[in-house]
Amino acid sequence: MKVKDLEFKPFIKAEDIQKKVKTLAKQIDIDYADKTPILLPILNGSFIFAADLVKQINIACKVSFVKINSYVGTQSTGQLKTLIGLEESLFGQHIIIVEDIVDTGLTLQKIVDELRSLGTKSVEVVALLRKTPAREKNIEVKYVGFEIDNEFVLGYGLDYDGLGRNTDHILKAKA
Ligand code: IMP
Repeated sequence: MKVKDLEFKPFIKAEDIQKKVKTLAKQIDIDYADKTPILLPILNGSFIFAADLVKQINIACKVSFVKINSYVGTQSTGQLKTLIGLEESLFGQHIIIVEDIVDTGLTLQKIVDELRSLGTKSVEVVALLRKTPAREKNIEVKYVGFEIDNEFVLGYGLDYDGLGRNTDHILKAKA
C-alpha cells in the first residue's frame, strides 16, 4: 500500500490486534474490579483502538475523548502541550489514558503531569504499541499491546500525514 511517498507492507494482522485488545481489557477488568475508571483516549490516533477496547471491558467505566493542543510557549521551554476537550472533573478519579503508540513518551509525559495536577486518584496508560523503550522518557506504561522496533507504522487509527488510518490491521514502512 502506498501513502504519499512511502510504501507500506503488512505488519500486525487484524485478528492478532483483536486478541491483544481482549487480553488488555481482561487485565483492566481485573485491576479495576472495584473501581469505575475514566478512560481517556487521545484523539485522533487512538479512536479505533479505544472503540475496540471499551467493547471488551466489562466493569463499569466512563469514556471521555480528549485532544492535545500544541502551541509554542512564550518561554524558552519551546513547544508546550495541553489537553483540550475535558468535559468532566477528574478530581479524585482513576484515569486510564488510551494511546495508540508511545514513541519518545514526550506527549504522554505532559499529559500524565497535567492529569496528576488535577488531583486525580491514579493515572495509568494503556498503549497499543510501544517503540523501543530506550527512546522513552522514563514514563511507565502499565498496559502495552505490542513492543515494536523503531519503525514507522500505519493503520488501525495511526496515520501518515493524516492518511491511512482506515485499516483493520497495522502496516509498516518498507525500509
Ligand atoms: P511521542 O510523543 O514521541 O511518544 O509520540 C507519540 C505520538 O506520535 C503518537 O500518539 C502518534 O500520534 C505519533 N506517532 C509516533 N510514532 C508513530 C508511527 O510510527 N506512526 C504514526 N504515528 C506515530
